[in-house]
Amino acid sequence: MPDKFAVTSENELRKQIWSWRGFGETIGFVPTMGALHAGHVSLITKAKKHADKVVASIYVNETQFAQGEDLATYPRDHERDCEMLRGTGCDLVYIPEKMYGDDHRTTITVGGPALGLETDDRPHFFAGVALIVTKLLNQVQPDFAVFGEKDYQQLLTIRRLTADLDMPVRIIGAPILREADGLAMSSRNRYLDEAARQIAGRLNVIMYDCAQKITDGENIDTATKRAKAQILAAGFERVDYVAVADTNSLALLKGKLVGQPARLLVAAHCKTVRLIDNCPINCADN
Ligand code: PAJ
Repeated sequence: MPDKFAVTSENELRKQIWSWRGFGETIGFVPTMGALHAGHVSLITKAKKHADKVVASIYVNETQFAQGEDLATYPRDHERDCEMLRGTGCDLVYIPEKMYGDDHRTTITVGGPALGLETDDRPHFFAGVALIVTKLLNQVQPDFAVFGEKDYQQLLTIRRLTADLDMPVRIIGAPILREADGLAMSSRNRYLDEAARQIAGRLNVIMYDCAQKITDGENIDTATKRAKAQILAAGFERVDYVAVADTNSLALLKGKLVGQPARLLVAAHCKTVRLIDNCPINCADN
């Protein structure tokens, strides 16, 4: 355990990383925006299985928020987050105060799996994620970085980014951690009041049912249309998408699923909270 569990400057971060590197140790990295929950902790556990030392970062990244989103109100509690990370296998928490200099001018244009789905509703989003993840990977220089399947499109976007730009890091995906009723854990679930929380718990049930119907041979359009109607009937205000996409390219699929590894992805608004979820579709001939 280093003297300081949490560091805020790039200098302190690099010193610790160099020291570990000097002993030949491998580094795993888990970037987060804080407001940590058991889902985040599961990424640390996974990183620790692959690397000698694990660094987590906490930074609420302004470039991935659009006007009107919750940048100002995004929950920030570093003390609680650090407490939560102690004893999880995390060796260092990096909490930079600022990631963009006043003279920062560079942007990243993302493509492939970043197009469609989330991008249809949040066009700014993945360019901002790609930028911060690139900066953090350059600072930490890990051997591995772990991302949750909870943000499946983000995981594929980061895989594409690091492959396209020859970044020397392996991207590892980790399964979604869920509450007892199946709701995918998320930092934003705390915005749900009691009534909304009840409604939110229906999303995964409808999603899994839809995936099962497609596995059983139902036409994708029929199954996803029904799921949209069920989500609205459950009390959601709006459905952004219910879509089936290729597991690796995220190209949208239609008709019947035959022998192609696929993923069902959903996004819907429960009162003021936008929820996303996804699951694999296990077709018999996949
Ligand atoms: P954040 O939403 O804090 O998520 C950090 C990591 O935790 C992501 O890889 C996300 O997929 C994972 N995660 C969240 N909920 C999870 C759950 N229920 N089960 C498993 N993993 C889960 O994603 C971001 O932050 C940001 O976009 C970031 C990558 C840090 C860039 O700013």
